[in-house]
Amino acid sequence: MDKWSRRTFISKTLKGTAGVFAISILPLGLTACSNRERVDTSTMASLGPISELEMGEFPKKVPYKTTVQDAWVEQEMEGFVYINKNNNDNSLIIMSPVCTHLGCIAGTTEESKKEEEGVTFYCPCHGGRYDEFGINVGGPPPRPLDVFKTYIQNGNVYIAILSPIKREKSKG
Ligand code: FES
Repeated sequence: MDKWSRRTFISKTLKGTAGVFAISILPLGLTACSNRERVDTSTMASLGPISELEMGEFPKKVPYKTTVQDAWVEQEMEGFVYINKNNNDNSLIIMSPVCTHLGCIAGTTEESKKEEEGVTFYCPCHGGRYDEFGINVGGPPPRPLDVFKTYIQNGNVYIAILSPIKREKSKG
């Protein structure tokens, strides 16, 4: 059994024909009860308190700045992730903004594009399009935006920033 106390569950939901890994974050009360073991967060980036991440509008952009220890190498890392909430079960999905075509950064699109085309994240390099859950819906990206394994420790959310998880290709 994994000795880490994983504070979140990963559940797989389907959106269209592509799988979406959603990170279910337990209600704070339950989380506090099950916090018995500590996770080594030295290779992770902190996104801040879960109470703050759960507030406000989704999808949202959340910055991080961290120093991670990867074997003997210490790395300064700075960037951001996109977070969206699945309204069916309140799970959060934490996505990398790195376009899965050739690695540019996908930005958010204007409201009109969201309404007319269902595009939330847009990569300007070659016109890559993703919906609000990071599913590729147009342009050259071969698969959805990557997601991160997430842990909660002392009320703070950490992501395994060095190990983004690939999702399966959208056939849509
Ligand atoms: S790198 Fe994003 S569409 Fe090519």
